[in-house]
Amino acid sequence: MSMSHTIIVIFGGQSGEHEVSLVSAQSVLKAIDQSRFNVQTIGISKEGKWYWGIDPRKWEESGSIVDSNAMQVTLVHDPSAPRFISLSKTDLPNQGKFDLIFPILHGPFGEDGTIQGLFEMANAPYVGSGVLGGSLGMDKDRMKAVFSTAGLPMAKSITVLRSQYKTDAEPILYRIETELGYPCFIKPANLGSSVGISKASNREELKASIELASCYDRKLVIEENIVGREIEVAVLGNESPEASVPGEILPAHDFYDYEAKYLDTGSRLLIPAPLEEKTIKELQTMAVKAFQAVEASGLSRVDFFVTTDQKIYVNEINTMPGFTQISMYPKLWDATGIPYTELVDRLITLGLERYKDLRNRRISR
Ligand SMILES: Nc1ncnc2c1ncn2[C@@H]1O[C@H](COP(=O)(O)OP(=O)(O)O)[C@@H](O)[C@H]1O
Ligand SMILES: [Mg+2]
Repeated sequence: MSMSHTIIVIFGGQSGEHEVSLVSAQSVLKAIDQSRFNVQTIGISKEGKWYWGIDPRKWEESGSIVDSNAMQVTLVHDPSAPRFISLSKTDLPNQGKFDLIFPILHGPFGEDGTIQGLFEMANAPYVGSGVLGGSLGMDKDRMKAVFSTAGLPMAKSITVLRSQYKTDAEPILYRIETELGYPCFIKPANLGSSVGISKASNREELKASIELASCYDRKLVIEENIVGREIEVAVLGNESPEASVPGEILPAHDFYDYEAKYLDTGSRLLIPAPLEEKTIKELQTMAVKAFQAVEASGLSRVDFFVTTDQKIYVNEINTMPGFTQISMYPKLWDATGIPYTELVDRLITLGLERYKDLRNRRISR
């Protein structure tokens, strides 16, 4: 790769994980080899507008990544010349042209295939999963469907539509109580960072939890409670992905909720997780299977529960896992022998390779 490679790092975004994305972006910007890449940034505001040349650290000072001087830009839908343009008609460096987009966005509109669809339409190479991988990974209900087809073990679950529940709650409550029992977990199907998720121990709590999750999504996933350790494995690659050593989360709270994840420092990571060799191998095989089941590319973190008798359950896949220097994903690779800077490098290469592979096809008859 030559110095002429321009990488556009995009962060922020409209999801509840806006701030997490800013912290991840800071780490990536620090780690990218600036002598080999020409790096530009775009910050997406919480309203969904894109601004050029944003410093993600700005949020810490002023509570927002943009000010009144910020230059709004947009990705041009011109497949023959992928580029950004300024909406204020100001010239962008290198006419806004670039070689690769590195989206560091979590949750809806960033990790769910939507922005990836925009990149595809503009013929822009980018890091990470495509439309299908992102959307399957984001929707916990559809994710379970493909995991199940791949033979991956999971907690028993029931999918409930908000509209069904509003029409006739009783049979749904009855089914949850008889098939899953208490405690159970109630989750909005399409979200992340534990937002809208709760654990219910009786019917009152179950009803309140369904009401809460219904504020976030039209579709909910209710799961039986799994008593086990929380183990995570990082996956890297495109069509021949590799798995890292497993890591363990020691949550400070009853479960790994939003506060435990981002607000208090009580939760600890144990890397590598102390596990039997046989369990480690199984976890790694399952992580790769999960990655391939949703057709992810580039990177993903696959999360598991492991019970005291070594039974494994896949919990979920995250196609754009937290990427700060202290996040599980980079730490797992570091422990496996790929330090942070090299990891960023590999992701860039994987993004370029995937683009080449995708374009290498016949379009007409
Ligand atoms: N079926 C379950 N049994 C036990 N704990 C669970 C279960 N589902 C979720 N949890 C707890 O809730 C946390 C968040 O759930 P998760 O499905 O990972 O949501 P998110 O996509 O928001 O990370 C998990 O890390 C775990 O601590
Ligand atoms: Mg999770």
